[in-house]
Amino acid sequence: MSTVCLLASSLGRTTALLTLAVVVIAAVLNYFDDCVSVKYSSMAEDMKTLEENFREQNKSCFILGASGETGKVLLQELLERNLFSKITLIGRRKLPFEGQAYENLVQEVVDFEKLDDYAAAFQGHDVGYCCLGTTRAKAGADGFVRVDHDYVLKSAELAKAGGCSQFHLESSKGANKNSNFLYLKVKGQVEADIEALGFDRYAIYRPGVLLVDRQESRPAEWMSRKFLSAFSSVFSTSMAIPIQAVVKAMASNTLLQPDQKVEILEHKDIASLGKSAQK
Ligand SMILES: NC(=O)c1ccc[n+]([C@@H]2O[C@H](COP(=O)([O-])OP(=O)(O)OC[C@H]3O[C@@H](n4cnc5c(N)ncnc54)[C@H](OP(=O)(O)O)[C@@H]3O)[C@@H](O)[C@H]2O)c1
Ligand SMILES: *[C@@H]1O[C@H](CO)[C@@H](O)[C@H](O)[C@H]1NC(C)=O
Repeated sequence: MSTVCLLASSLGRTTALLTLAVVVIAAVLNYFDDCVSVKYSSMAEDMKTLEENFREQNKSCFILGASGETGKVLLQELLERNLFSKITLIGRRKLPFEGQAYENLVQEVVDFEKLDDYAAAFQGHDVGYCCLGTTRAKAGADGFVRVDHDYVLKSAELAKAGGCSQFHLESSKGANKNSNFLYLKVKGQVEADIEALGFDRYAIYRPGVLLVDRQESRPAEWMSRKFLSAFSSVFSTSMAIPIQAVVKAMASNTLLQPDQKVEILEHKDIASLGKSAQK
């Protein structure tokens, strides 16, 4: 064998070993995550009863970000399960929903730069869902903070003042107010600032990469999705999650009575709750 061949074959072996090691580590992490999530996986049977009981209370909710990828699927999920007697979309533009399926839908168009002028839009909802967000690439660093922190926090404040008792925030895996990364820092900061408002119930969802066929192009997201799905299924399920699972988890979790006022649902919790809600 020539030196080149030897080198190539040992390189190949190293790569294979490394890949194996990564897969094993991912599988082990996944296993431990599963143990944590058991509490969310045995509740499918009770879901129907919980839904019926919840429905009878004629509750109302609002959604922030209903034009976005998560928000629009969440809206469909809430309508399909018929959980609320009234759903209000709060956004910067009116969305073209028409027909009988949307008869209990109200739309409030607001200017997020002057939210105080729109306090009325936030009044009288039992539950609030927030799927609002932008990216640094789209809005710049300042714009990102303005939307993902300031708009979100101000909305939560107005909702609290308007009598809202439950707030559900779509945050992100790795959110941490002490992070050096702007994205994770802002997500962690807004999580903490909303917690300080003292909702009767506050649920934070921290999904990894959202799997969705997005119309606009986001090269970085596209790359990470391709990478994750090509890599290994074990690895990808611990990093990425279909948007359907996220909204199912948000809707189902609304029906539950948690032990604590503040809950953090990590990626794995969302995945198993999202799965258990499937009929
Ligand atoms: N994508 C991921 O892989 C991922 C992973 C983990 C967590 N998250 C987080 O999950 C949340 C939802 O993500 P997504 O991908 O579903 O969001 P998306 O599709 O980008 O939708 C964002 C929503 O926010 C609204 N919005 C953006 N900028 C705004 C502005 N300046 N003023 C008013 N409204 C504005 C959009 O309204 P318009 O339609 O009017 O623009 C839209 O309704 C975000 O907070 C995101 O950070 C995302
Ligand atoms: C909910 O609405 C229905 C129909 O409008 C009504 O019969 C029922 O009493 C209401 N329940 C509560 C708890 O308000």
